[in-house]
Amino acid sequence: MLDDYAGAASTPDVAVHETAAELCDAVARNLVDELAAAQARNGLASVVLTGGRTGIAVLERVRANPRIRNVDWSAVRIFWSDERFVPAGHPDRNEAQARDALLDHVPVDPRLVYPMGASDDPYGTDSATAAAAYSDLLRRMERPDCPLFDVCLLGVGEDGHVASLFPGHPASEEPLLAAVSVRDSPKPPSERISLTLGTIRSSAEVWLVTTGAAKTAAVADAFRGNTDFPASRAVGIERTIWHLDREAAGGL
Ligand code: 6PG
Repeated sequence: MLDDYAGAASTPDVAVHETAAELCDAVARNLVDELAAAQARNGLASVVLTGGRTGIAVLERVRANPRIRNVDWSAVRIFWSDERFVPAGHPDRNEAQARDALLDHVPVDPRLVYPMGASDDPYGTDSATAAAAYSDLLRRMERPDCPLFDVCLLGVGEDGHVASLFPGHPASEEPLLAAVSVRDSPKPPSERISLTLGTIRSSAEVWLVTTGAAKTAAVADAFRGNTDFPASRAVGIERTIWHLDREAAGGL
């Protein structure tokens, strides 16, 4: 089912913000509003969180946003776009950073929080085993004609990566699994778990968030349709939006 949506793809919109701080505040506000709207529609809301400076900064601004009270956090399903394959609780883990920034400060239902495996998990010290477990979890959650996620947040790397899907890496072309192991990530740490592009593309909305002059070229290349860049193929069924600050948008 996840791949049923492979054909449906929205045309990317762009929102340019004066500064990184303004971007994070705007994305945080939009995320709170979208989670509340999804709950009004479906009861539950499902969001994919991401790592990296911008992805975590957005969560910190969500925590500071007074509209946070409009969300029933006990009815939000929390997933990750990717995870560094390090021990549970390690400060490098995207889950640990998301908990520090937001999740430990709102009343989420732990049964609806789905972290990716850690390298010291009792059942899987191998990232491929942990990725397969996450892939199976997502497959079990599929529902006909219903996007798995309401919003998928993604940061963007200078090389055009999203999640832990890097240009030219086999994981970026994975056709079957919903989540994969990445063992030679060019961005440390080298071992990771990542959603595949097929899974990302089964989101109702994909929000790419990136800032700074270091991303100017990657953003411009992605918008020129450089399909070597996973970022240019990270699109939602209903909506894709790139949130950029002025520097990252400098090449558009
Ligand atoms: C990770 C992230 C990764 C990140 C980008 C952008 O685990 O590192 O998921 O995809 O979002 O590398 O990171 P910055 O926002 O820090 O540039």
